[in-house]
Amino acid sequence: MLPLMRIRPAGQPIRLPDWSIAFGRHAKLEVDLGCGRGHYAFARAQARPDRNVVAIETRIKWVGLLRQRAKKQGVLNLRAIRCDASMDLPLLFDKASVEGFSIFHPDPWWKKRHRKRRLVRPELVDQWAQMLTPGGWIFVQTDVPDLAEEAREVLSACAKLEALDATDFKREVLDGLGSHREHKCQQFGIPVRAMAFARKPDPAP
Ligand SMILES: C[S@@+](CC[C@H](N)C(=O)[O-])C[C@H]1O[C@@H](n2cnc3c(N)ncnc32)[C@H](O)[C@@H]1O
Repeated sequence: MLPLMRIRPAGQPIRLPDWSIAFGRHAKLEVDLGCGRGHYAFARAQARPDRNVVAIETRIKWVGLLRQRAKKQGVLNLRAIRCDASMDLPLLFDKASVEGFSIFHPDPWWKKRHRKRRLVRPELVDQWAQMLTPGGWIFVQTDVPDLAEEAREVLSACAKLEALDATDFKREVLDGLGSHREHKCQQFGIPVRAMAFARKPDPAP
């Protein structure tokens, strides 16, 4: 897949999308990274019509199916985009413009030499933290214990973030909604680990 960056003519300044135009209204923006089939993003958009939800996924088939489903069911506050969350977010979202990022069950990239591809890594967490509005949030959930440990370390090390109680956060802010993988884990009795972090206020100048 071509990263978005490569199709920008050389020397042209980056023009970020205006999401209020894309959605036809101003609303808080939430972004689900690696949405897969989009169960969570779809349910979230339905449950919170006051939010604009962007679902990001590399697999074009699932992006297409999610778009079709949203169109068929008249869910107007959801957009699905095929792109690489590890490269393309700076071309999509401005600083201090995103209310929340969710990442349900990111790919574990088991092999040691592939671990650098894991989504929850320091430079990306820093990027997401900069894109968050004050008080904005990052929610990560996984059923892979060592990935959970690593993700918690990386998120905790970001000076712009502070940890929240993930159980309360999921119930109160995410309305207890879950993803396809989460439902599979529940079905097979596989424990999941969740973590939630909020953007700290900027220090006074
Ligand atoms: C294990 S699946 C989980 C899907 C969904 N979030 C869930 O919980 O059911 C991980 C998903 O992340 C997508 N993915 C992995 N790396 C990605 C990236 N860099 N950018 C966007 N999507 C990515 C994969 O294609 C896959 O659909």
